[in-house]
Amino acid sequence: MSQTFNPSDIAMLRTDKRASLTETVQRWKSDGDSVALVPTMGALHEGHLSLVRLALKAADRCVVSIFVNPTQFAPHEDFDSYPRDISADLQLLQSAGVDLVYTPDEADMYPSGKDSAIKAGAAAKGLETDFRPHFFDGVVNVVHRLFDHAQPDLAVFGEKDYQQLMVIDEMVQAQSLPIEITGAPIARDAHGLALSSRNAYLSAEELEIARMLNQALYKAAQDIQGGADADAACDEASALLLNCGFDKVDYVSYKPEWNRVLIAAHIGKTRLIDNAPTTPST
Ligand code: PAJ
Repeated sequence: MSQTFNPSDIAMLRTDKRASLTETVQRWKSDGDSVALVPTMGALHEGHLSLVRLALKAADRCVVSIFVNPTQFAPHEDFDSYPRDISADLQLLQSAGVDLVYTPDEADMYPSGKDSAIKAGAAAKGLETDFRPHFFDGVVNVVHRLFDHAQPDLAVFGEKDYQQLMVIDEMVQAQSLPIEITGAPIARDAHGLALSSRNAYLSAEELEIARMLNQALYKAAQDIQGGADADAACDEASALLLNCGFDKVDYVSYKPEWNRVLIAAHIGKTRLIDNAPTTPST
């Protein structure tokens, strides 16, 4: 059946009201339906949609939130220029079969200020935090609020942001929230580049360079899996990236407790992250 864009369906799909979200989810739950939440910042791509598909497999109902969260951006970062295209997002989510899209504004999310008693735990130590110190406190702050508003049975996050997934899982356990956290595999383009809303910033020339990120990453992960010295493998990946046109490498790091190599590097004004397992996939 072909999916046609119908503005009145879109109007029914979306709410920016916390009370209406909470009431709808409660109604579904009392009808016996399980409810999944997929938090996003919009500018949706196939990576986000793969989370939605996983959510709809795991639960009867799927809510997607779209909120560009100011507390996870530092003043010098791209909050103002972060890509926003709500009507394209809504059409994609309608076609994907999402039941409800929650689009709160800043006053709904932070009615009495942006401070939070919730702080990111041990999983936030190092890696992203070394370069974006405020980031994970902002993430756990907003995700905790989204969980409070939606009260889902489960929530899906991408392995693309692996440290974020670990930080959120830890927060849910520390807070004893009755929410199952599910990780979704990284969606990549035909060249292996992890899909990201920020890829939209890349020029054609930068895109060519960006495609080296996953190659350097996978080589390091395979070398480590094959018994190579982890520091040497990470240093080699970092040198390779700088050689092929990356401007700065924030980190290439092996986390044995997560069985992952994680990477963050800059091309021009764009910062890209990625990660790969060091254990064979089953
Ligand atoms: P955002 O960058 O919009 O990502 C929303 C979700 O999509 C995250 O769980 C992210 O890991 C996942 N995702 C993005 N690209 C992916 C890819 N290529 N493959 C698989 N999953 C992918 O992450 C955030 O928003 C925010 O920090 C948020 C959790 C919404 C809190 O504000």
